[in-house]
Amino acid sequence: MVSTSFTTKSGKTATVRSSSAHDYVIAREFINTASAEDTYLTFSGEQLTDGEERAYLADCDMRIAAGDLVKLFCFIDGVLVGDITIGRDIKGRRRSYHCATLGIVVHHAYRGDGIGKALIRIALEEAKQKITGLRIVTLWYLEPNQNAKMLYESCGFKECGRVPGGMWYRDTYVDHVHMMMRV
Ligand SMILES: CC(C)(COP(=O)(O)OP(=O)(O)OC[C@H]1O[C@@H](n2cnc3c(N)ncnc32)[C@H](O)[C@@H]1OP(=O)(O)O)[C@@H](O)C(=O)NCCC(=O)NCCS
Repeated sequence: MVSTSFTTKSGKTATVRSSSAHDYVIAREFINTASAEDTYLTFSGEQLTDGEERAYLADCDMRIAAGDLVKLFCFIDGVLVGDITIGRDIKGRRRSYHCATLGIVVHHAYRGDGIGKALIRIALEEAKQKITGLRIVTLWYLEPNQNAKMLYESCGFKECGRVPGGMWYRDTYVDHVHMMMRV
């Protein structure tokens, strides 16, 4: 289980630890706030209940124990400000066990302070240790999300494909861009 800390660009102390089903109240608030933003996530306004979030995190606990998932929460002054997951791709059964997908959200009030970059670095190290046989990490972003593109490129991800107009975002169709990195 991860338990570490780092200093943000502005000098704040951020602590990082593995998620747990016990976190369901703060985790629900966190994802519902991001969803209400209608930003570049798959969530676009949907609101989760405590029960839904608790069930999701309980499933995450099992996947973490099985070595199929790394899910980390980042806190500043006790407030949940960042969430990153790297999960083994089990949809393709044994054919894709060597692949995992990364997803990340930083609270809007804490963006641009180096949290996303630090979380990717910490989560990749953990994933290499815990997700056995991992060879490829993939992720995707929506074309207008240039902050995410810059972040991912600065971490070593490279574009490996795109579906033109593959995502519906704020009343228009935008490219669904896929990236990958060998680990
Ligand atoms: C994308 C996201 C995770 C980035 O997290 P962050 O903590 O703001 O990113 P960082 O501060 O670590 O920035 C890392 C790099 O990304 C780029 N970047 C991030 N925010 C930027 C901004 N506002 N302006 C310019 N560059 C930016 C820079 O290249 C930066 O590198 P540098 O610090 O060496 O200049 C965050 O903006 C977010 O959660 N957005 C909403 C949800 C989302 O888009 N998730 C990703 C879906 S694909």
